[in-house]
Amino acid sequence: MTKEEIIAALSPDTDPAQLFALADQVRREYVGEDVHLRGLIEFSNHCRRRCYYCGIRAGNAKVRRYRLTPDQILYGARSAVSLNYKTIVMQSGEDPAWGPKELAAIVEKVKKETALAITLSVGEHSKEDYRTLRAAGADRFLLRFETSDRRLFSMLKPDSNYDQRFRCLAWLKEAGFQVGSGVMAGLPGQTSESMADDILLFKQLELDMVGIGPFIANPDTPLGGAPGGTLDTALRMVALTRIVTKNTHIPATTAMGTIDAQGRQKALKCGANVLMPNISPTEYRTDYSLYPGKICVNEQPEQCGACVDAMLAGLGRKRAEGFGHSLKTSGE
Ligand code: 5AD
Ligand code: FES
Repeated sequence: MTKEEIIAALSPDTDPAQLFALADQVRREYVGEDVHLRGLIEFSNHCRRRCYYCGIRAGNAKVRRYRLTPDQILYGARSAVSLNYKTIVMQSGEDPAWGPKELAAIVEKVKKETALAITLSVGEHSKEDYRTLRAAGADRFLLRFETSDRRLFSMLKPDSNYDQRFRCLAWLKEAGFQVGSGVMAGLPGQTSESMADDILLFKQLELDMVGIGPFIANPDTPLGGAPGGTLDTALRMVALTRIVTKNTHIPATTAMGTIDAQGRQKALKCGANVLMPNISPTEYRTDYSLYPGKICVNEQPEQCGACVDAMLAGLGRKRAEGFGHSLKTSGE
């Protein structure tokens, strides 16, 4: 698709029915009916950065900060095994107390005890540190670039650097990770042109995974008063990303489920093929508050497991049996 075609398809004036049907067809052809479940463990909400959109930004005094211990993470990994998930995603803010050494140690422990694939989502690090984490056994890494618009990026992430973000993505690939990135849809000041650029960039970067969610204003951040993104725009982004990138893994994100009770189901019907049920300890879930209203905060890991199984049954889809590795690099 050309940039102009993508821009036209993003416009709320065009009926998305055809776009969604095509994305569903491309999804079926390239990644099949299987849905991969990735158990998400949010292991620390400490963060050194001050991104304008994010609830766990440094300096937000309203956040009750927590940090799981290695044993608590191991417990989470065990619950993922018992729920028959094949992957855990370990996500945190950029927490200096969870440095590469500590991260490598827990990755090694989980790998020694389980057959789980491990995805890290722990922000920007040096090339050497990424290599260390890969050598410790981590399989995949998620680092959203958030927006391809350089100016918007600098506004939203005042203590980050646009070029550095993309350097990190290149280092991750060099280190041998399966790499995921992504953006928020409906950021203040984000144009459909820049969202079209986001999608073309997903392709250019040859990503293995692409995560997209609507921006949801958090009242305890500088963007607290801004309007949020719509589910419609986020779904169009998912559909276009599927059509353009073909065989990437695309999650139906929690943010989509947060702004619409059927958000994740709708995403699974227009291109998505991954769900990320929460396996964080229930007592900390409300504290990992990137945005307000987040779903699944009162559930236990088992309840989210049952919930996603019911969701898949309702959609006539089934759980994948394999690890759900990249379809670009290694296959199954
Ligand atoms: N609304 C929606 N998504 C958000 N994220 C962070 N803050 C928000 C928000 N207010 C997303 C970012 C980040 C991911 C972990 O969560 O895209 O990369
Ligand atoms: Fe957590 Fe549905 S996935 S309750």
